[in-house]
Amino acid sequence: MTSDDTAHNEGTSANRQAATLELRGITKRYPGADEAAIDNLSLEVAAGEICVLVGPSGCGKTTAMRLVNRMIEPTSGDILVNGVSIIDRKPSELRREIGYAIQQIGLFPHQTIAENIATVPKLLGWEKKRIVARVDELMDLIGLEAAMARRYPGQLSGGQRQRVGVARALAADPPLMLMDEPFGAIDPINRERLQNEFLRLQGEIRKTIVFVTHDIDEAIKMGDRIAVLRKGGILAQYATPAELLMAPADAFVEDFVGADRALKRLALQRVRDIELWDAPTVRVGDPMAEARERAMASPIRHALLVDDDGRPVSWLGDTDLTGDRVVHHDGRVTMVELDDILRDALADLLQGQVMFGVVTDHGGRVAGVLSVEVISEFLTHQTAGHIDEAPAPAERLA
Ligand SMILES: Nc1ncnc2c1ncn2[C@@H]1O[C@H](COP(=O)(O)OP(=O)(O)OP(=O)(O)O)[C@@H](O)[C@H]1O
Ligand SMILES: [Mg+2]
Repeated sequence: MTSDDTAHNEGTSANRQAATLELRGITKRYPGADEAAIDNLSLEVAAGEICVLVGPSGCGKTTAMRLVNRMIEPTSGDILVNGVSIIDRKPSELRREIGYAIQQIGLFPHQTIAENIATVPKLLGWEKKRIVARVDELMDLIGLEAAMARRYPGQLSGGQRQRVGVARALAADPPLMLMDEPFGAIDPINRERLQNEFLRLQGEIRKTIVFVTHDIDEAIKMGDRIAVLRKGGILAQYATPAELLMAPADAFVEDFVGADRALKRLALQRVRDIELWDAPTVRVGDPMAEARERAMASPIRHALLVDDDGRPVSWLGDTDLTGDRVVHHDGRVTMVELDDILRDALADLLQGQVMFGVVTDHGGRVAGVLSVEVISEFLTHQTAGHIDEAPAPAERLA
């Protein structure tokens, strides 16, 4: 069955298979250039994963993309899509299977936005009704009003055009997508929205995506794996975001990921991944001597009053811990959840101007205490064992 048949037969987007991609010792030397643009690059991208190419300007990121869909040919080496060398494929057929959002956007100026988005579905001979529905769906996804579909690219802002470029690449739901700085021209607020939408969508459709960016934060957020390239198209490191932050391969990578790499690691961990303090819980009616003892034995020096269901009510300090038995107090506790991303939990503590947050489970019951101290300890002593448990990009959404 050809790719065209697949596109005709399968109505929904979710059931088209993602492709695997492999670069085997690829070198690309442009005619007349002294240095190779890509030098013996090998990397594998598993089906359904986002591989981010990151590195300084001119390190060969766009060149790598153009090699994959045969807009240019390698000097040596091989590229395999789904295990088949692309040299054996017809370029026109290959390109229909590969969505490409190019760096310069490249919309057709004399076609409307809707026509631009519909380019590949039309090539694939989709029915008109299906194309219209797909264009509507994608306009909504990229956050443009439906009426804009009738405009021409020249009537849009640069960021809006870039979003249309992304929609066009996504249109035929290709098993492999190449995205060259797809959010580069978009303001930070819309960029974050698009990144999140994109990751949410990827959680459902699980395409294989090669994503180029200059921005290491974007790479860490979007990537299942990150390939850091240095000038001359040399692969400096290919690793998961957590590995990259934990163990940069050399000084170049370390410099590239930045001095705040410890803080960046917080975005890759959940509250449940770190060792919490036990909560010194007490209930109304507990003997005060016991309650005091529990509070003083804890580094928090407070007892935590919980209700009958184990939900937090109030912190009890020295002045509250008097009398025979614990009585009810109204209070305010800062709460975070076991499933929260550690970075967000820390932000909640800082925002609440508290050193401690009560960690709750799904039922709102106390599961432990998170403190600024615990987080700081975690950052200094984090072990390699935690790396494997880092949440996938789609699960890391703020
Ligand atoms: N058609 C070409 N002919 C000759 N040299 C080229 C050509 N295209 C790119 N190069 C060179 O190859 C190198 C890699 O270029 P490429 O566009 O792949 O970099 P990039 O990593 O995408 O950079 P940027 O981040 O600025 O987009 C650069 O030195 C560039 O000048
Ligand atoms: Mg480029």
